[in-house]
Amino acid sequence: MADNIFSIKHSMLQKADKEKLLGQKGVVLWMCGLSGSGKSTVAKALESDLYERGLLSKLLDGDNLRTGVNSNLGFSDDDRLENIRRAAEVAKLFVENGEIVICSLISPTVEIRELAKSIIGAENFFEVYINASFDECAKRDVKGLYKKALNGEIVNFTGLDAPFEAPLSPFVELKTGEESLEMSKNKLLEKVLEVVKM
Ligand code: ADX
Repeated sequence: MADNIFSIKHSMLQKADKEKLLGQKGVVLWMCGLSGSGKSTVAKALESDLYERGLLSKLLDGDNLRTGVNSNLGFSDDDRLENIRRAAEVAKLFVENGEIVICSLISPTVEIRELAKSIIGAENFFEVYINASFDECAKRDVKGLYKKALNGEIVNFTGLDAPFEAPLSPFVELKTGEESLEMSKNKLLEKVLEVVKM
């Protein structure tokens, strides 16, 4: 696979150099949860709050990545695994640059999230569970996908005919069905500020 490839990593500036420049620690906040659970909404609000505090972050959103780097992938088990593998590799590039990477992808299984963690490195990986029930997400149905899935127009839909395994011990759990966006975001922000502090 890597025949005739010579990495120049040893001669590049390191993560610690970039962190010193930015005055922050680089981490990956890996947000998982059902479609429509509020991942992107919380992620955008967090990005904006970090920006206001002079902290540099990069938002990697599943839907956005699927229009570009992951545009050839669907929702089979294999494609979701590849989707996450690529997202994690991209996240790794940014975290090595000292940035706070906010990943918002369903990432439905323990296996998939373990893969992301192994690519990124456990020391930089913080799992955030956006917990909203299937019924709650179906009620919101912001994109109209739940209606279609329940009508049988979408197959392999997460929470319906494709699995979602909740994380067992996330760094933070946000219950977006019970908390306001402001409450969820502040709860996350507080924890994030602790881990990105130099
Ligand atoms: S993941 O499972 O591979 O992590 P990802 O976060 O990239 O998923 O993409 C999820 C988004 O794709 C959803 O928010 C939704 O807009 C859309 N989508 C389209 N088909 C499906 C499906 N079968 N299951 C879940 N989400 C789907």
